Amino acid sequence: MASIVALLSSLLVFSIISLGNALSSNYYEKTCPQAENAVTQVVKKASMADKTVPAALLRMHFHDCFIRGCDASVLLNSKKSSAEKNGPPNQSLHAFYVIDDAKKAVEAICPGVVSCADILAFAARDAVVIAGGPYWDVPKGRKDGRVSKASETTQLPGPTFNLSQLQKSFSQRGLSMADLVALSGGHTIGFSHCSSFNNRLHNFNATHDVDPTLHPTIAANLKAICPLNSRSKNAGTSMDPSSTTFDNNYYKLIVQGKSLFSSDQALFTNPNTKSLVLQYANSKEAFFKAFANSMIKMSSITGGQEVRKYCWIAN
Ligand code: HEM
Ligand SMILES: *[C@@H]1O[C@H](CO)[C@@H](O)[C@H](O)[C@H]1NC(C)=O
Ligand SMILES: *[C@@H]1O[C@H](CO)[C@@H](O)[C@H](O)[C@H]1NC(C)=O
Ligand SMILES: *[C@@H]1O[C@H](CO)[C@@H](O)[C@H](O)[C@H]1NC(C)=O
Repeated sequence: MASIVALLSSLLVFSIISLGNALSSNYYEKTCPQAENAVTQVVKKASMADKTVPAALLRMHFHDCFIRGCDASVLLNSKKSSAEKNGPPNQSLHAFYVIDDAKKAVEAICPGVVSCADILAFAARDAVVIAGGPYWDVPKGRKDGRVSKASETTQLPGPTFNLSQLQKSFSQRGLSMADLVALSGGHTIGFSHCSSFNNRLHNFNATHDVDPTLHPTIAANLKAICPLNSRSKNAGTSMDPSSTTFDNNYYKLIVQGKSLFSSDQALFTNPNTKSLVLQYANSKEAFFKAFANSMIKMSSITGGQEVRKYCWIAN
């Protein structure tokens, strides 16, 4: 028992220390200065060939950072399909091949130096820039983890979460309500399946079949795409009509009651988060600045201990 307590407290201390771990912008200056550019080239090429790649890479990085820190645990395969990528919130996690290609390009220049976690962080930033969003200098020096569990994907926030649930999920990772509002703007790009917003369309609650905060025209459109008891697993819709462009339209949609998830609309239910939503709806510049700052914060949650040779398998 005592040893378990000691182990747990040392893990806790470790994770607190690793939160402030030695990430720096010049981490690879001497050992692999060309790494970042090599990743950018691969991400550009892949995004040109497939417009769904940027959204996939951004979401992949978010999922990585929210489970065990940004340690590339989301990239690991498991023989028994019991890794994070096999967990229930895996819908639309895709484009893993882009990270594998980027790792290959980087390994060709400086083998064994650059972690998969850093490559994913670069790729997510590149994805945002390619889609028209802000650039930020990615802190470097993450290490890759050795553990990935499908069961731990329940730690991710869900699309039916209300504001207090979202706040709890973010604060457990050292992220504020302001970070929550800014990072949710990632939903300006990409695609969502019906299962992520069906709760708002059918049997919403005891008094309303449809979520009354959802704009009636949008509700009717979504109901046509996602009929009750539909068996189509692939049905869904773009997160935003301009879903390949990283802009501030996401916040305009929230103001109009046209955002997809309960968790998006929840940002409009509290005076503080509502005021940020209005601010970002009115100013793309304000959103871009906040998003870049919060991405740096989210991507600085570290957790791993090695530099993987291949991103899909621990050394
Ligand atoms: C605030 C809590 C969040 C919740 C509850 C949430 C939930 C979801 C859900 C349910 C989907 C659709 C999955 C599907 O049906 O295929 C999705 C997609 C997406 N999310 Fe989030 N998310 C959150 C935060 C974030 C953050 C912080 C980012 C990045 C900064 C992000 C980026 C994305 C992107 C880019 C997509 C589209 C993926 C694609 O098209 O492949 N999300 N999210
Ligand atoms: C995604 O998760 C579901 C539910 O756990 C699982 O049945 C499915 O095989 C997973 N998909 C992949 C690609 O791992
Ligand atoms: C949010 O959801 C949780 C869990 O369902 C519930 O306990 C809480 O009362 C809800 N909070 C608000 C503000 O609705
Ligand atoms: C159903 O949801 C609406 C909108 O959130 C709310 O006003 C109403 O009180 C809810 N009804 C019940 C029975 O919870």
